[in-house]
Amino acid sequence: MTNKKPVLVSGIQPTGRLHIGNYLGALKQFVELQNSGKYQCYFFVADLHALTENPSPKDLSQNIINLVIDFFAVGLDPKKSVIFQQSQIQSLQELKWVLGTLVPPGELLRMTAFKEKVLQALKPEEREKLTKEEFDKIVVSTNYGLVEYPILMAADILIFGGQFVPIGHDQLQHLELARTIARKFNNRFGKIFVEPRPLLAPTSRVMSLDDPTKKMSKSLPNGCLFLDDKPEDIRAKFRKAVTDSGSEIKFDEVNKPAISNLLMIYSEFSGLTIAQIEAKFKNKNYSQFKEALAELVISYFEPFNKKKKLFQKKIVQVKKQLTAGSNKAHIVAYKKIQEVKKLIGLIPHLNN
Ligand code: ADP
Ligand code: TRP
Repeated sequence: MTNKKPVLVSGIQPTGRLHIGNYLGALKQFVELQNSGKYQCYFFVADLHALTENPSPKDLSQNIINLVIDFFAVGLDPKKSVIFQQSQIQSLQELKWVLGTLVPPGELLRMTAFKEKVLQALKPEEREKLTKEEFDKIVVSTNYGLVEYPILMAADILIFGGQFVPIGHDQLQHLELARTIARKFNNRFGKIFVEPRPLLAPTSRVMSLDDPTKKMSKSLPNGCLFLDDKPEDIRAKFRKAVTDSGSEIKFDEVNKPAISNLLMIYSEFSGLTIAQIEAKFKNKNYSQFKEALAELVISYFEPFNKKKKLFQKKIVQVKKQLTAGSNKAHIVAYKKIQEVKKLIGLIPHLNN
């Protein structure tokens, strides 16, 4: 029996511990979408993409298994979704090559995420002074995986017929490219790919706890609250979190970016609206609010941390489930790449 539900695809790179930005911007929504029962879901560990960061083999293999454990501990369920490891799907690499022949390198070099990555080692003032020649010099000496990154991402989505892709803001441009590639391919060879659409999480930007002008990111660990932080660390991090001038607990992103970020986090973890939280803390000060927020987050992630510890004791089973998911994904991907090969003339017709 064929499954008629729309296909949903998303991946996360195994590049380190997950923080609440990753959770609110991606994983929380993954679980909700999975549990809605409306989609055929594919969630994967984007280990090939993580290679572009040149991790050590030890870190990479550890991060892969940690991320799968996190997937399971937040509630992604191999009985409901196909959960797999990207590098196990060989057909993806074949499709990436085919799609690459449709994309001019100039389009890849213009990607914002690419530019951010190659320039990340530079200070803002150095970036501003950078001439076109200096930029080009940096670009040609970067690793080629960073250039190809969006093509592999397009292959990830298109090979499973992904119609919906839950992603954060930073990935919208990559998704737009995936749509363009699908359209180009379909126009030239016949309609075989679905043009994927993004699903943005309601909270697509959690800001850093120590600088509310920057996005919470693994590359700025001091501002991160990790899902597996210990209760005492969570309390300390919120206590130290930057606040704005004044003392009122009020949402105002322009004048009070720090407290607004904390209010948004409170809202996500409590299910209360911002107005309800403002009313609740009307006569309270920042430190009372931050203490309450710490306790809220600690209790929210208690079940996650319990499950995580259990899965850490069952690594063999976790690996087996990942392999089973990868086998399922492989079958779907293999079928698609055969169709693609036929369509583009790579499988010669013996009869004509
Ligand atoms: P990081 O910036 O910490 O390296 P990744 O790039 O690995 O995070 O992102 C993994 C997922 O988490 C992506 O879907 C991304 O959009 C989302 N994400 C990352 N940081 C945030 C944030 N601060 N707020 C909301 N979503 C985020
Ligand atoms: N590039 C995405 C990120 O950094 C991860 C990713 C790889 C992805 N392939 C994907 C997300 C396909 C959605 C669909 O967050």
